[in-house]
Amino acid sequence: MKKVYLTGITTTGTPHLGNYAGAIKPAIEASKRADTENYYFLADLHALIKSQEPASVAQSRIEIAAAWLALGLDADKAVFYRQSDIPEIPALTWLLTCVTAKGLMNRAHAYKAVVQANEQAEDQDPDRGINMGLYSYPVLMAADILMFKAHVIPVGRDQIQHIEMARDIAQRFNHHYGEHFVLPEAQVDDSAAVLAGLDGRKMSKSYNNTIPLFVPEKQLRKLIMRIKTNSQEPGEPKEPDGNTLFEIFRAFATPEQTAEYRREFEQGIAWGTAKQTLFELLNSVLSEPRERYLELLEEPAKIESILQQGAERAREQSSVFLAQLYKSVGLSSFS
Ligand code: TRP
Repeated sequence: MKKVYLTGITTTGTPHLGNYAGAIKPAIEASKRADTENYYFLADLHALIKSQEPASVAQSRIEIAAAWLALGLDADKAVFYRQSDIPEIPALTWLLTCVTAKGLMNRAHAYKAVVQANEQAEDQDPDRGINMGLYSYPVLMAADILMFKAHVIPVGRDQIQHIEMARDIAQRFNHHYGEHFVLPEAQVDDSAAVLAGLDGRKMSKSYNNTIPLFVPEKQLRKLIMRIKTNSQEPGEPKEPDGNTLFEIFRAFATPEQTAEYRREFEQGIAWGTAKQTLFELLNSVLSEPRERYLELLEEPAKIESILQQGAERAREQSSVFLAQLYKSVGLSSFS
């Protein structure tokens, strides 16, 4: 039996190096294997939780779609679609919502982080700024995954809890209604799991510290030069593991290139030189995809037709499966 790989990227902001390392790269690699089936999508319903700006959501989804294709996703080897084109996903979300313990959602990191920030600000209301979308984010994500019976979910480390919650929710449903769902597992690639951003914290749109994948060369160089480093002098040996420059390098380089960069760290490379080396590597890897990306953005009809095809293929599965699930919970026709 083929392994089903599935992942999505929330369509807020512009695609960045962290999206590539955590999701796009491992997903495209999996799609080239003969023993896998692949579902990759734009999590544009999730985007509405964080952004109420229609123009920026719209821009982000076309940019992220173009990024996947420019970086080499072959839409014949994967089902590539927009979450919002699959109406069965929100329908499944409701079925799952009704077996999900509220207490499970109380424990979600993303929600808890906002509550904690409110409490630290000595806000009267710990739930300030929290909509129900954020609170039940993991249920929508579980629906994404369970709908396509996915086994393997390539994600950054910060998403592991969400995958575990999807398993919990699947088990609850299976317990009540029969063995409908496959239990998914996160795949976190250690060499490329969660990249740090400009300030050394996790590269994330929420921290505003991302390095976009497709900025022009000059700007890319500028951003790399801005990455925060410590005060170690040239000549002092430097610890590569966990270093922002090294981890980004490793996510884009061959093992041989990485080994060489590691040696340079150990031999005390100057930070300025290390940044220049990183820039050159990134620029060489990204310059072709950058051209394709810019071309694709000029051809929205082409992207649209690829995504429409993807939605059609996805719905072959989701419409049949949802009908079975409706039946299993007691919602079937009377005759
Ligand atoms: N939560 C993921 C992120 O922000 C995006 C996402 C939505 C996703 N649904 C998913 C990832 C299903 C994997 C599987 O990065």
